[in-house]
Amino acid sequence: MAFERDGIRIVLINGSARPGNYTGKALAVVADEFQKHEGVTVVTLEPGLLGLPLPGVDPGSEAARGFAEQVASATAVVLATPEYHGMFSSVIKLAIENMGFPSALRGKPVALLGVASGAIGAVKSLEALRGVVSHVGALALPLSISVANVQQVFDAEGRCLDQASERHIRRLATGMMEYVHGHICPAVTLERVLREGLTAV
Ligand SMILES: Cc1cc2nc3c(=O)[nH]c(=O)nc-3n(C[C@H](O)[C@H](O)[C@H](O)COP(=O)(O)O)c2cc1C
Repeated sequence: MAFERDGIRIVLINGSARPGNYTGKALAVVADEFQKHEGVTVVTLEPGLLGLPLPGVDPGSEAARGFAEQVASATAVVLATPEYHGMFSSVIKLAIENMGFPSALRGKPVALLGVASGAIGAVKSLEALRGVVSHVGALALPLSISVANVQQVFDAEGRCLDQASERHIRRLATGMMEYVHGHICPAVTLERVLREGLTAV
């Protein structure tokens, strides 16, 4: 697991490629919250801008390999999606298609964030995405965050205009850190003690 050598590494994946997208604005709040935690490195990936191949076309491509390696090196992953036509985006699905088989997500904690311009938020997208994430063997955390009416929550510069929404979005990062510290870190430390003896930690 990545954090033993390099600290805790959180990979955030933006499922929108739209210029000025709101998914990225919400994800920036999540990144900011993660960065408050000591020993955490945050990497944001933009799969819609990486030239990832369509499923089954060129899985050995440099773009696909580099992307899967970034995900594989993560202690934990956040998948962020806009709601497009009642579903998570094709960009987020393409990202998952390019994580290898078995998936680089397998066994990793994954938190889900969805944003939508509509009043019902991204609930449908998040439920469907949870199914895919579970299918590839990742551990989807129970709390998904859905941001409704997102154009009213952020301004064009990415400032969050609503404190309650901002607290809600930040909760995604604090929940993930609680999970990593409570479940991943102790397991890795125990494994290291078993391998190297008590002097290892
Ligand atoms: C192709 C497309 C389909 C969309 N479908 C929906 C939808 O089903 N429900 C909804 O609330 N908003 C929908 N929207 C609006 C997005 O939720 C909105 O653009 C929001 O800002 C999130 O997307 P973004 O991260 O790309 O900005 C759609 C937008 C696009 C471009």
